Amino acid sequence: MISITCPGCRKTYRIPDNELPKDKPVDLLCPACNTVLTIRPGSGTSPSGTPARPLFGPELIEKIVRTSKALPPMPRIIARANEVLSSENAGFREISQVLETDQAIATRVLRIANSAYYGLSVPVTSVQQASALLGFQTLLELITVVSSSRMMGKRLDGYNIEARSMWKHSLSVAVGARALSDTYYPELVNDAFMAGLIHDSGMLLLDSYIVKNQKTFNTLVAQGKTLQDAETEIFGFDHASLGSMYLKNWKLPANLIHAISYHHRPSDSDDDPLACILHISDIMANSAGGPEANLVTDQAALAGIGMEPGDMAPMTEEVEAVVEGIIESMET
Ligand SMILES: [Fe+2]
Ligand SMILES: [Fe+2]
Repeated sequence: MISITCPGCRKTYRIPDNELPKDKPVDLLCPACNTVLTIRPGSGTSPSGTPARPLFGPELIEKIVRTSKALPPMPRIIARANEVLSSENAGFREISQVLETDQAIATRVLRIANSAYYGLSVPVTSVQQASALLGFQTLLELITVVSSSRMMGKRLDGYNIEARSMWKHSLSVAVGARALSDTYYPELVNDAFMAGLIHDSGMLLLDSYIVKNQKTFNTLVAQGKTLQDAETEIFGFDHASLGSMYLKNWKLPANLIHAISYHHRPSDSDDDPLACILHISDIMANSAGGPEANLVTDQAALAGIGMEPGDMAPMTEEVEAVVEGIIESMET
C-alpha cells in the first residue's frame, strides 16, 4: 500500500501496490484539486515529479495527530467515570454501574485496590465496598490505571523500550507525581496522577517515525543528546509537544495538557507547578532505571515547588516500592 499526500490540498490517499506499474512512474490527478501526483516505483510518493519533501515541525505534528493509530481515543470508561464523579449526585450505585459495563476492568480494579499501596486493613470484594473504603477519587485513579496499562504498555522499537518498562515508567511517574503533589501541592493530586500516567504518550505516537530515522536518532543519543533534543533535531518538535497536541482530543483539563507539554522544560512553563512536579517525578523514575536517556534535572523545578534536592532519593525509593506492589498485583 502506498500513501500519498497531495501537496496542493494536503489530502492523503492510500493506493494498493498492485494497482500501480512496477517499472515506471505514473501520474495521477488529485480528485480534489487536480494537482498532478507522480508516483515512482518503489520510492513511495513524489508529487508533481519532485522528490517528496519529508514533513517537519508543525506540519508533521498535524499529520501524526490526524492519522496515528498508536493511541486510542480516550478510553470510554475513564470518560464515563469522570462524568459520574463530576456530577454532584454521584453515588455508589452510579460508580459501580460504570464498572459493571466492563467486568474485566472491575476485577483488575479490585485486585489493585487490595494491593499494599492502598493500605486497606480488610480485603475488598466488591466495587461498592472499594468505593466506600477508598473514596470516589481513588476509585477513578484505579480505573485510570487499569484502562491505561494496555495503552501505555507497548514495546517501542525505535526507542528500544520493552512494553513492561514503558508501562512501569508511566506508572512510576504517576505515583511519584501524586506523592510530590501530596506533599507540595495537594490541590493537584488527581491531575498529577493522570498526567503522570500519560506524560510520555507522545513517544508512542513518534516511535514509528523514529524507526524511519533510526541511524540518526541512535547517533544523536550516543553523542549524549537527550531523547527530546534528538527528536527536536530530527522532527522539529519533541514527544512532549506532540503528546500534548494529541491529548487535546481527549478533552482533558488545560492545565494537565500544559504540564505534559513542558515536562522536559518546566522553566519555560510560566512556573507551572504541575509541569515542575511531572519533571521531578520523571527524573526520579528515570534515575531508578527508566527509559529516557541523558535527562538533566531542571533545578528551577525543585525551587518551583519548594523541594530540597536531597529529598529526591528517599522519595524515589518509596515510589519504586509502591510501583512494584501495584505491578505485582496486576500481574498475579
Ligand atoms: Fe518524556
Ligand atoms: Fe518520562
